[in-house]
Amino acid sequence: MPDFSSHPGNKRNVASSQRGGPHYRTGRGIEVLQADLSNKEDLARIETALKQDASLTMLVNNAGVAAAAPLLQSNVDLMEEMIKLNVVALMRLIYAAAPVFAARGHGAIINISSVTAIAPEMLNGVYGGTEAFVLAFSQSLHHEFADKGVRVQVVLPGATSTAFRDAAGMPVGEMVDAALAGLDLGELVTIPSLPHMADWDALEAARRKLTPHLFRAHPAARYRTRPADA
Ligand SMILES: NC(=O)c1ccc[n+]([C@@H]2O[C@H](COP(=O)([O-])OP(=O)(O)OC[C@H]3O[C@@H](n4cnc5c(N)ncnc54)[C@H](OP(=O)(O)O)[C@@H]3O)[C@@H](O)[C@H]2O)c1
Repeated sequence: MPDFSSHPGNKRNVASSQRGGPHYRTGRGIEVLQADLSNKEDLARIETALKQDASLTMLVNNAGVAAAAPLLQSNVDLMEEMIKLNVVALMRLIYAAAPVFAARGHGAIINISSVTAIAPEMLNGVYGGTEAFVLAFSQSLHHEFADKGVRVQVVLPGATSTAFRDAAGMPVGEMVDAALAGLDLGELVTIPSLPHMADWDALEAARRKLTPHLFRAHPAARYRTRPADA
């Protein structure tokens, strides 16, 4: 994907509503809704569709922009635009979909994050932060909605050769197939490039081991400076 650090790239001009496009190949009808998800009115329209269209059973949050340049070379206004799309739009679409999926007792939410969620030093820090938000929010959604019939998956691709990226990454077809295989495996977190899922599980286990110690009433011994803290 293009680097959003200093150039915002093209605005959306997605096809307008198209009913029945690839119908002859799949037997399914398709309706494309045009929207710039950084635009409040457009976003609100998609939120309304998610709330009102009972035929929608899966939300895939794929729209996103990336940035590679470090803070000293990137434009703060574009960082804010990136947060609007990668974080705010994704969050609002989930707030629209999750309650209706839960009320029906079924539905799926797939969020495309990035390996920068767990390796924020690799690219621009704001980009990594937005992807860390997607990962954390997905984990929380799974915790809140798993027993309500709502399936959550978060996919963490590494460099991927999509339309705007040269051949330096994983072919996009392989990435998508791996993500869908992860969905079939029932994974909450899918990291297509990671050879051994046990490595992710170990990281998760270490995180969970911290949890009981994170909400104590007093600081840890190394921070106690007053006798009263003892
Ligand atoms: N490629 C990678 O190396 C890589 C690695 C890790 C994670 N990812 C994640 O994968 C996802 C897809 O990225 P990609 O690599 O496929 O990049 P891409 O080829 O640039 O596609 C980005 C997608 O986001 C859409 N989009 C961008 N801004 C939008 C807006 N304001 N409103 C609505 N849609 C918007 C684009 O729509 P248009 O088609 O209209 O432009 C396009 O469908 C992103 O969330 C990205 O963070 C990519």
